[in-house]
Amino acid sequence: MRKIITFYLSASMFLKKLLWRSMHRFIIRKYDGSELVFLNYGYEYLDSKHESLKLEANDEKERYCLQLYHSTVADVALENKDVLEVGCGRGGGASYITRYFKPTSYIGLDMSKDVIKFNTKFHKVPGLSFVEGNAQKLPFEDQSFDAIVNVESSRSYNDMDAFISEVHRVLRPNGHLLFADIRTEEENEQLRERFKSVGLQVRKEVNIIQNVVIALDLDSERRCELIKKKTPKMFHGLAEEFSSTKESQRYAEFADGTMIYFQYVLQKEE
Ligand SMILES: C[S@@+](CC[C@H](N)C(=O)[O-])C[C@H]1O[C@@H](n2cnc3c(N)ncnc32)[C@H](O)[C@@H]1O
Repeated sequence: MRKIITFYLSASMFLKKLLWRSMHRFIIRKYDGSELVFLNYGYEYLDSKHESLKLEANDEKERYCLQLYHSTVADVALENKDVLEVGCGRGGGASYITRYFKPTSYIGLDMSKDVIKFNTKFHKVPGLSFVEGNAQKLPFEDQSFDAIVNVESSRSYNDMDAFISEVHRVLRPNGHLLFADIRTEEENEQLRERFKSVGLQVRKEVNIIQNVVIALDLDSERRCELIKKKTPKMFHGLAEEFSSTKESQRYAEFADGTMIYFQYVLQKEE
C-alpha cells in the first residue's frame, strides 16, 4: 500500500485527477446520503465569542464541512436571489444554503454524472436542482445569476482562466463570486490578479488555514471511522490522503504552510 501512496504523491497532475475521480466513484457507490454529503476539509470558528450555528439534527454530523460553506457565503444576502454552485459534489452545501438562506433558485452543477444522479434523488428541497456541466464552459445564458458559489473544486480545473471568464459572463452586474479553495501563496497572487483583470473586484480575501486545520483535527475521528467502516484495509492510506486526515501529506502541507486556504468575496463591476 505504501507503494501506491508514494506513487500517487509523485504522480503527474493528470494521474492525480484520474485517481481522485476513481475515489469519487467509490464514494458514490459506498456511502449513502445519511453519512456523507460533503467532500471538503471543513472550517471551525476561532473566535470564542462566535455563536454556534443552530443546525437541524441531520446537519450536525458534518458540521465542520457545512461551516466551510456558511463562512464562505455569509457576507452576501442570498435570499430571493438566483444562485449557481459550480463543483457542488454530493450536494450538502447546496442543500444547506437553499434551506437556510432561502434563495429563489439554487442550481448545483458538477461534471460528475454520478453525483448529479445521486443529488437529484437524495436532496429534495424546493428551489434546488442539479445539472451536469463543466466549470470551464458553463451551460447558461449571459447574466443568469446573482451569485456563484465555488467551494474546494477549482484547484482541479484544467483551465482556471476559462472558469473565471465564464463566472464573469454568467453573473449579473454587481453579482458575487463566493470562492474558497487551497493555493500556494504564489498561486494565490496570480489568482487575485486574474480575478481583478476580468472585472471581479475583491471585496474580501481571508486566509482561513487555521480554521481549516482545526476543523480537520476536530473531525479526524469521524473521518477515520468512515474510512474504516467502508474502505478495504489495503486502501486506507489512499482514503486518508483523500480525506486529509492527520496522517496525510495534505494535512502536513497545511500545517507547515506550504498550502494555504483562501476565501474570497468578489463582485462583478456594474
Ligand atoms: C473536493 S469536491 C468538493 C465538493 C463540494 N464543493 C463540497 O465542498 O463538498 C470537488 C468537486 O468538484 C467537481 N469538479 C471538478 N472539476 C470540475 C469541472 N471542471 N467542472 C465541474 N465540476 C468539477 C468534482 O466532480 C467534485 O465533485
